[in-house]
Amino acid sequence: MEPVVALVVAAGSGTRLGGNVPKALREVGGRPLVLRSIEALAEGGVDRALVVVAPGLEPAFEGVLADAPVPSACVAGGAERQDSVRAGLAAIAGDPGLSRSVFVLVHDAARALVPAAVVRRVIDALRAGAVGCIPVVPLVDTVRRVTPSGSTVVDRAELCAVQTPQGFVRARLEEAHRVVAERGIAVTDDAAALEVLGETVALVEGSREALKVTEPIDLMVAEAVVRSRS
Ligand code: CTP
Ligand code: MG
Repeated sequence: MEPVVALVVAAGSGTRLGGNVPKALREVGGRPLVLRSIEALAEGGVDRALVVVAPGLEPAFEGVLADAPVPSACVAGGAERQDSVRAGLAAIAGDPGLSRSVFVLVHDAARALVPAAVVRRVIDALRAGAVGCIPVVPLVDTVRRVTPSGSTVVDRAELCAVQTPQGFVRARLEEAHRVVAERGIAVTDDAAALEVLGETVALVEGSREALKVTEPIDLMVAEAVVRSRS
């Protein structure tokens, strides 16, 4: 079967979470978020991982990655998430061990508790022929569009929240990020980058447990999820 590499983005500043430890090295249930992310990805079928970290933090992350269940290395990221993804894709392409991978799963280190079943669904969709695949969950809140002239309710039935890992045929995602960078387009996820090429993405069922640790309350929820699993 085609090897699958995970590109784990962990180069953000974690401003909303606060604290003086990089977000991806913050622990939940005694284990760093980045390590829990790689464990879930490996359990779901990923063969190797490349972690994109803030420049200068490579040594701190390398120490943690020694405990990962699949071979894992790290590389420096950029100012925006899409810059970090691009840096990671370039590093994968330049590494003979990683560039054998036909598929790449881009994952937010902050979504450390993604169930392995979600990872498996994404990989299965790629193996079944999808060029891109993203996990989604229904929205639970009522949503309003707010503009200077007032606000209107939006039909929630047509909306969903998008999670990671997002899976892609690696060569197509590389091309997408090249075009996005060349045209100066800002994207907040990789599916949006792929769509710039005119491709469509497949949707699979995500999970509330794949919450993105963003604010302090998310760490509390994550602790509770880990406790509930043991
Ligand atoms: N990320 C990245 N490179 C960036 C910005 C973000 O690799 N330049 C990563 C983060 O490390 C995170 C994921 O993208 O795993 C999603 O971003 P977010 O949850 O917003 O994390 P941060 O940007 O670190 O947090 P904040 O926005 O609160 O500063
Ligand atoms: Mg951010």
